[in-house]
Amino acid sequence: METKILKSNQIQEAADLIRDGKLVSFPTETVYGLGADATNATAVEKVYKAKGRPSDNPLIVHVADVETVEKYVDHLDEKTKKLMNSFWPGPLTIILKIKDGVLPKVVTGGLQTAAFRNPNQPVTTKMIEKAGVPIVGPSANTSGKPSPTTALHVYHDLNKKIDGILDDGQTKYGIESTVLDMSVDEPVILRPGAVTEKDIEKVIGKISNSNVHLSAADVPKAPGMKYRHYAPEAKVQIVKSNWSDVISWINQQNEMIGIMATDDVIEKYDWPKNTTIFSLGKSVTSASHFLFDGLRNFDDHKLANILVQSFSDEGMGAAYMNRLLKSAGNEYFS
Ligand code: TXA
Ligand code: MG
Repeated sequence: METKILKSNQIQEAADLIRDGKLVSFPTETVYGLGADATNATAVEKVYKAKGRPSDNPLIVHVADVETVEKYVDHLDEKTKKLMNSFWPGPLTIILKIKDGVLPKVVTGGLQTAAFRNPNQPVTTKMIEKAGVPIVGPSANTSGKPSPTTALHVYHDLNKKIDGILDDGQTKYGIESTVLDMSVDEPVILRPGAVTEKDIEKVIGKISNSNVHLSAADVPKAPGMKYRHYAPEAKVQIVKSNWSDVISWINQQNEMIGIMATDDVIEKYDWPKNTTIFSLGKSVTSASHFLFDGLRNFDDHKLANILVQSFSDEGMGAAYMNRLLKSAGNEYFS
């Protein structure tokens, strides 16, 4: 099957495909997702197959409203309601205990919980409404690769493996949603994203951040965190601030080296001829927006080494560094 690119005036067609048990990639404010009817186990199985995703890794259930979530859970507690009021639609995924057997096992990985998200992208909200069912949506990349932030990235990874891609341009944040576990006594962030720990604490008070433990070898709580992730073909190394050392090293290489850095860094140095530069813009926000795009861009150029700027772990920096550390297998340039 050739994958069809659908534009924003073809939402009905996208919704019909989903209702027919087909796979359609959809845009969100974070990254592109790979959609299927969350109530159709056969359709959801095809999502794992298209991505090459390990089957013990549960999927996020995308909804167009809070009422849909209420159908699947016993009750929504006050804190969860406050979070939904404050951050939905938006880049916050909330894990909740669900009623027995209300969602297929392939969606939840057999857990007693499910992850819910109400994305802030009107074409996708309309598609979910028209389909009349919630939609699973892992990032629409081949498992292990950087998440897609354009329809072209999706096409590159999944052409002929899925039925359609609903194209609504480049995504806003460029990094996946914050995953917050509200199914436990003490709420915990399992994956940092654009909704930060501080943002959440302003609404529901103190929470813990398990991101710290996840870089160690202990058992991660979000099953997806244990797999190799966001890895381009090239070797990625993180650069703290020792750009002069990087330049000396590049000078000793015979091949092209990829650099991803903000404009102030790019302008400050005299780069050797064998450097290919990808700008991360001016701030950690733009760097997050461009991170996966840049890594994919260098794969197209077949470079073997990419060096990427680090940021401090605050605010959006937590999400950026979480993804970059995984891309680089925790390796810093030294
Ligand atoms: O921004 C996003 O969240 C994107 C867009 C498309 O919405 N989706 C996304 O999905 O990043 P995915 O499948 O790539 O990542 C979902 C993460 C995985 O780490 C998974 O293990 C975790 O959420 N997860 C899903 N359900 C869970 C559950 N019931 N308990 C714990 N972790 C869960
Ligand atoms: Mg993913």
